[in-house]
Amino acid sequence: MTTAREVVIAGAAQILRPPQDGLAYLRHDRAGELRLDGGDIVLRDGRIAGFDADGEGDVHVDVDGCAVIPGLVDCHTHLPFAGWRAREYEMKVTGVPYQEIARSGGGIAASARALAQAGDDEVLAQAQGLAAEMLAHGTTAFEGKCGYGLSVAAELRALRLAGELDARVVQETVSTALLAHAVPPGYDADGWMDEVAAMLPTVVADTRAQALDIFVESVAFTNEHLARMGALAAAHGLTLRCHVEQLATHRSVPVALAAGAHSVDHLACLHPDDVAPLAGAECAAVLLPGAEVLGAERVAPARALADAGAICVLATDANPGTSPVLSLPLIVAMAVRRYGWSVLEALLAVTLNAAWTIERSDDLGSLEVGKRADVIVLDGPVEHVPYRYGHNPVALAFVAGAPAYVRPDQAWRLREAP
Ligand code: NIG
Ligand code: FE
Repeated sequence: MTTAREVVIAGAAQILRPPQDGLAYLRHDRAGELRLDGGDIVLRDGRIAGFDADGEGDVHVDVDGCAVIPGLVDCHTHLPFAGWRAREYEMKVTGVPYQEIARSGGGIAASARALAQAGDDEVLAQAQGLAAEMLAHGTTAFEGKCGYGLSVAAELRALRLAGELDARVVQETVSTALLAHAVPPGYDADGWMDEVAAMLPTVVADTRAQALDIFVESVAFTNEHLARMGALAAAHGLTLRCHVEQLATHRSVPVALAAGAHSVDHLACLHPDDVAPLAGAECAAVLLPGAEVLGAERVAPARALADAGAICVLATDANPGTSPVLSLPLIVAMAVRRYGWSVLEALLAVTLNAAWTIERSDDLGSLEVGKRADVIVLDGPVEHVPYRYGHNPVALAFVAGAPAYVRPDQAWRLREAP
């Protein structure tokens, strides 16, 4: 079945499609223009071939009553990482602030120790397992970051492991070099940024990293370091992304925009004056409600960003510290409730706009003829995704036209030609 040449998905109750073909992204004030008409979709040789079935295909998929949507794109995760930090979560919920946990050797430093102690196979096995769990929740492409290395050699190892993970998973992956995550032991922040500058030629030559990332926070790096990271990204032909305004307001967004950032991520503490400039910029506003909820963070001004026409995006932020969450349907459910978003707004944020954030919306993120056939069949209408909070709505996931995940109770929907 994995080599099926033509897959005919027939009789969907809803098919999520953009208002027109060829959009790189859709600003959120236009989310209501997404279409949800019922019908068919035909996948051929790994690509979306059309929306009118005139035969049974090599594989016929009965999707009566179902919604068919693009494969979900998780544009902000911290895979691969080693181990978990459940004890810290308990400390956090019982009142110890994240900054204090970080200063006392927990947080990112604890995950760096775990990564250093784990062998390559162990790290890859954990990440592969997580990727399988993501697929079962509809994620057909994802981004991963380094940042738990905290030395030049360990960050380069993490980026190499990300490349090996890509070869082991069915999803398309992209890699981000989060080289300024926490200040490594033995350095001050300026000194570590000098090391980052010095290692970038190796990062470009030897890894798949397409973007640089930095965590701006009192326990990490400053707006000045963000500006410097922007200059380094530009000098090396890399994209700039950044973790900003997560735990406190630092007015990092104007700095990020001036530095040419492609995305600003977190934004729970975004200053109200920064909503309009961000909404007017060609820069993704990546919102991470998993981290917000589990960290008892403030609520990002997501309703205001959407109304102002920002390129809004949702992601899991999957990491062992702030968001051990792998399910984008759960993130959609959180976002709809927490942000006052419609279903279409939330789905746009995990499909086309998320694909734009990882610079793949030419091929991924929407159901259009010619794009890669990454297609999800849900077990009900799209309105059920946020409403049935915690339920996994994914019945089937096709990656490049092949059924990569089939939920056992939904297997009857697939029928191979005799
Ligand atoms: O995106 N904010 C910084 N980085 C991660 C958390 C890192 C950790 O605590 O392990 C995040 O939330
Ligand atoms: Fe993150």
